[in-house]
Amino acid sequence: MIPWFHVFLFVLSVCLFYFAFRKGVRKGGRLPPYDGWIPWLGCAIKFGENPIDFIEAKRRQLGSVFTLKVAGEHITFVCDPEDFHYVFKSSKVSFPKSVQDPVNKVAGITRKSFNEIHTKMHDTLKGQLATTQLSSTCDLLFKKFEHFFGQLKENVDPQQETDLYGIVRSIMYRSVIHIFFGEGSIPVEKEEDFLDFENHFMTFDEQFEYGTRLPVIFIRKWAASRQWLLEKCERVVSLCTKTMPKEPKDKNIFQNLLPLIDEDNKANWSLLTLWAALANAIPLSFWVLTFVYQDKKVLGKVQREIDAALKDGRPITESVLSEMPYTLRCVMEGIRLRSPGMIPRRVVEPIVVKGYTVPPGHMLSVSPYWVNRNPDIYEDPELFNPDRWSDWTPGSIPETFIPFGGGRYMCPGRWFALMEIHMFVAMFFHTFDCHLTKGIPDFCKLHLVGSQQPLQNCPVTLKPRVIN
Ligand code: HEM
Repeated sequence: MIPWFHVFLFVLSVCLFYFAFRKGVRKGGRLPPYDGWIPWLGCAIKFGENPIDFIEAKRRQLGSVFTLKVAGEHITFVCDPEDFHYVFKSSKVSFPKSVQDPVNKVAGITRKSFNEIHTKMHDTLKGQLATTQLSSTCDLLFKKFEHFFGQLKENVDPQQETDLYGIVRSIMYRSVIHIFFGEGSIPVEKEEDFLDFENHFMTFDEQFEYGTRLPVIFIRKWAASRQWLLEKCERVVSLCTKTMPKEPKDKNIFQNLLPLIDEDNKANWSLLTLWAALANAIPLSFWVLTFVYQDKKVLGKVQREIDAALKDGRPITESVLSEMPYTLRCVMEGIRLRSPGMIPRRVVEPIVVKGYTVPPGHMLSVSPYWVNRNPDIYEDPELFNPDRWSDWTPGSIPETFIPFGGGRYMCPGRWFALMEIHMFVAMFFHTFDCHLTKGIPDFCKLHLVGSQQPLQNCPVTLKPRVIN
């Protein structure tokens, strides 16, 4: 007679052994590392030369989970979209712990203030910029844009070349500052004041990443611009406090955040909000314009759609924006092609990804820039093709589309950003014909934080459109 019980025990132990062995080999397996040959510095020098391309080169060499040792920091990249939930959803990683030191270095927000206020700030801002709250902000923004587009139309000389990125900055910086902090909070109306602001903000933004890592002695120009901006932010705080309305609906965006912040850090949080509101949305608006103006077929379709939606010169409201879905697809496509190089989370407990144990202290990171070039997700990924968004439902963000980050601390400004870029480019395409005399500029691959900046000026000639 067959001893069934023994057979059962035997099979069970084989299975258990197999699974235990398999797990044992993989769990705790050493992460494919790339540390270069210099102690502590690791691959910092090679990485620093072109961090964006370096990430992809190492993915090809080491696989979809790998660690780069960069100047004392261990950055572990996960490249398979199936693994993104480890970065965005796991309780073993922390968003605040990945940003509190950089935020302290660049904006001077103390650790204590950051830990006490950060989540409240995030949630309040998210609430204010949520889709359901955007209608009045949208109307206000339209009035601002209308004013500046009117000025530009009057002064533009169709024979004269001008820098397209400079034009985008001049309209958007001024309008967004007004919306977030109130009229006159940072003086930018007069040309000389604007140029001062632009110069300091661009220096601050360009060297933002160095500011998070290098001692001030190596980045004196950046430190001077930060100081200049902080002084303006002191003024923002003072004006916003003095003019604080009683009703929340009458407050500007920063006035709604002010009561949350401790006295000593108000200007610092204001600087951080200012940077977050301008740093990505403005270059992305620029890129969308360049992609569309360079593609006559797309431009024709966009202009027909916008001309129909804006017939009789009606103002742009949320509902009018919804009549321009193709233009919004162009915005999504522009964001796809110029997405941040890296989004990190600090590992606080060992976390197993594809069988590898990522230890506490590592920065578990994803690269939106490279996900958006994954041919399994986007056919012919380098092509600007708004039609790939035809099945997308506005108001939703696809799971693999992560330029705004993900999880609990996903960008709280994402709906405002989409709305402002959509409105801005629609008004631009409606108002001007634009010829890019040297084509689309190259973009800078030196930075991982945020959207890429153009490497050269973008000379254009602008001609006000005559619409029949
Ligand atoms: C298309 C433009 C924008 C892009 C691509 C973008 C992208 C991002 C990303 C990737 C993050 C980090 C999220 C994460 O780690 O999961 C972030 C955070 C943030 N964004 Fe945006 N952003 C944009 C526009 C804006 C705008 C217009 C605002 C307006 C205030 C804003 C406010 C913020 C803030 C305050 C945070 C930090 C959140 C926190 O500390 O909890 N962003 N953004």
